[in-house]
Amino acid sequence: MKKNIGVAVLGLGWMGQAHSRSMLRIPSLFPERGVSPRLVVCADTEESRRTRAVDDFGFQRATDDWREAIASDDVDAVWVTAPNMLHLPMIEAATAAGKAVFSEKPIGGKPEHAVQAYQLAQSANVATGVGYNYLWAPLVMHAKSVIESGELGEITHYRGRFLSMYGSDELGLLTWRFFLEQAGYGVTSDILSHAVSLAQYLVGSITEVVGMRNTTISHRPIAQPGAGHYGRGNPDDPKGEVENEDFASMLCTFANGATGTFESSRTMVGPESQNAFEVYGTKGAMAWNFETMNELRYYRLTDDPSSGYTTIYGGDRFPFHGAFVPGQANSIGFEDLVAIEDHVFLESLAGGERFSPGFREAVDVVSVQQALIDSWTSRRWEPVVDLAP
Ligand SMILES: NC(=O)c1ccc[n+]([C@@H]2O[C@H](COP(=O)([O-])OP(=O)(O)OC[C@H]3O[C@@H](n4cnc5c(N)ncnc54)[C@H](O)[C@@H]3O)[C@@H](O)[C@H]2O)c1
Repeated sequence: MKKNIGVAVLGLGWMGQAHSRSMLRIPSLFPERGVSPRLVVCADTEESRRTRAVDDFGFQRATDDWREAIASDDVDAVWVTAPNMLHLPMIEAATAAGKAVFSEKPIGGKPEHAVQAYQLAQSANVATGVGYNYLWAPLVMHAKSVIESGELGEITHYRGRFLSMYGSDELGLLTWRFFLEQAGYGVTSDILSHAVSLAQYLVGSITEVVGMRNTTISHRPIAQPGAGHYGRGNPDDPKGEVENEDFASMLCTFANGATGTFESSRTMVGPESQNAFEVYGTKGAMAWNFETMNELRYYRLTDDPSSGYTTIYGGDRFPFHGAFVPGQANSIGFEDLVAIEDHVFLESLAGGERFSPGFREAVDVVSVQQALIDSWTSRRWEPVVDLAP
């Protein structure tokens, strides 16, 4: 019998379900593991979610009180998967109780929340993880090893973008993501954070930024209680105001001298889940797009005039891929990345090793976000200041 870790999941929406399902799959995916998760308690304010937690996911129990879930003696680690503005109070209670915490990104809705969460975890000396799941894509890990090997030469430019259509329908409901009180910032917190974390992982620190924002759909149908998160209203439904940005973009400079450009939108029509990067060096380039996440495009500078980009397909020659499917070009998907991050986080708890990305790396992301926010007001380049030196 493997050692096991008692888990509480706070919020059983998209990501709470993704993590719970991933943890249920860990024993069969990773037989060599040192530790197994045990789904002890799920907290959610929606009764139907609590019923699902017990009936469909096999949680031992469910509650509408997340404080009670955190306090349970049989909970060793807490997964924070509720809307952004609940992250910090949940992390405050979990760290005070001495529990390890895995929080969904971005940790809170404003930069200061991630900083406070990091400081609380440092003071309580608890292990932390943050859900920058795209860093766990096997081909992204491969791209990092190619960049680190020097095969691309000196990195000169990086293009990052996360363009999603989840808000592109003007009748899409006014759910928590569109409110300052529940989400904090808009795409900057929600999805530009993923693009920035990828850039920092692949190319290193960002030192200065200048950027802009826009809100393209200013009013949306008000969601009734129990409405699905991605539900649609009717044209004559009462509407409420969108309180945060639909679009953000920035130019940046990296510490290694490379330049970068970033774009993020939740309302553009066309790109459906385009979390993508292109990295350019003096000897080659690489490009990856989550929409085709099992393909990495690679350009090598050679003397051959007929050479161009080649495509590397995912497969069990790359880290973790073989846990899901053997061979080459047999695809893996979004939730497989969540299973990898949960497995590695649990192993780090069992082995007492530091997990990355943790709350420290979340602070690195929001330090860039803060400089971008400052630049919206100053309309100038702003330095990236480490918010938790
Ligand atoms: N890493 C990723 O790729 C990714 C993708 C989507 C969302 N997220 C992050 O995950 C978090 C949750 O987003 P989501 O899309 O799963 O949201 P969601 O709306 O689908 O789910 C949120 C859940 O929290 C529950 N909840 C609300 N208030 C609560 C409370 N007081 N106590 C307990 N439960 C409560 C809701 O009932 C719902 O079940 C966000 O921080 C978001 O940024 C990350």
